[in-house]
Amino acid sequence: MREITMGRESLDRAVGGIKSKHSIIGREIELRKALICANAHRHILIEGPVGVGKTVLATAIADYLERPILRVDGDERYTEQKLTGWFDPPIVMQKGYNEESFIDGPLTQSMETGGILFINELNRLNEGVQNVLLPAMDEGKIEIPRIGTIYAKKGFLIIATQNPREFIATSSLSEALSDRFELLPLTYQNEDEERNIVETRTGIHDEHSTRLITEITRETRVHPFVRRGASIRAATSMASIIAFTERDIEDIRNAAYLALPTRMELREDSKKNVYEVIDEIIDKVVSRNPVSAEGKEDTGGPEDTAEGKDGEKKTIGR
Ligand SMILES: Nc1ncnc2c1ncn2[C@@H]1O[C@H](COP(=O)(O)OP(=O)(O)OP(=O)(O)O)[C@@H](O)[C@H]1O
Ligand SMILES: [Mg+2]
Repeated sequence: MREITMGRESLDRAVGGIKSKHSIIGREIELRKALICANAHRHILIEGPVGVGKTVLATAIADYLERPILRVDGDERYTEQKLTGWFDPPIVMQKGYNEESFIDGPLTQSMETGGILFINELNRLNEGVQNVLLPAMDEGKIEIPRIGTIYAKKGFLIIATQNPREFIATSSLSEALSDRFELLPLTYQNEDEERNIVETRTGIHDEHSTRLITEITRETRVHPFVRRGASIRAATSMASIIAFTERDIEDIRNAAYLALPTRMELREDSKKNVYEVIDEIIDKVVSRNPVSAEGKEDTGGPEDTAEGKDGEKKTIGR
């Protein structure tokens, strides 16, 4: 288990190491706060709108702490038994209800190993499942019927993520559960950082195109007819789509038509349909950034992208 030294310099070094290992752009303040919380054995809740980097940050911190990581993806059908563990019927038939027939769930496993329980979309878990977490978080123990008390080893920590309440239709976080977390809110990053993310994730270093795409995405968040704007995923997706084209304005419009409608939601009283809204946004952004042939240079390739390193190689060309 990695110990964190809390001096300013060592914290900055730790943050720098995490950022470069996971190709994270910006977010120094948030990473520093998360490390301080982890050092104080405080459970962390990362909250923010879709695509703002919650999962990236949570997994990077968990990885840095060098502890066993168990992941739960929250949804309404996730049960208490899945979280804590269950008795395996064939073994129960042979040996009865005891530790041998009990299969640990991720909560029990992370408590017993002093590991990290990473819960994605915490507020999608139903209330019964949320309640199971309560004694584990502040008393470091849970009761398992027929087994007894399970105690958490030093190092046990929950890092959770969730969309803010207004973004989800399902259950929200109980007051008791939110009282046991330190909150790390994430908001959209600034334009330069977002453009940098698009370039890092796609390998397209054509500033003119990535600027247009990033601005178009950001405009969806402030357009009066839009209830929920698009995330950086839309910008990254548009950049990947135009990589194989001439990257003129019609290519960008086509990419926007493909990438944006599934990622933005119009207000019910919107006077325009989604394509009209996209056209309006594109016109506005283009009028700020006149299209010029010189602007469309490409100096990068997939080799120096985050995805190029980890995943399969793609050819990005024109
Ligand atoms: N600061 C960042 N640096 C580099 N890449 C980032 C950053 N923030 C987000 N990304 C990229 O944007 C995409 C969305 O990030 P992520 O999946 O972490 O978002 P999320 O907040 O967990 O979204 P959701 O609410 O849908 O679960 C990923 O491809 C991720 O790599
Ligand atoms: Mg996520």
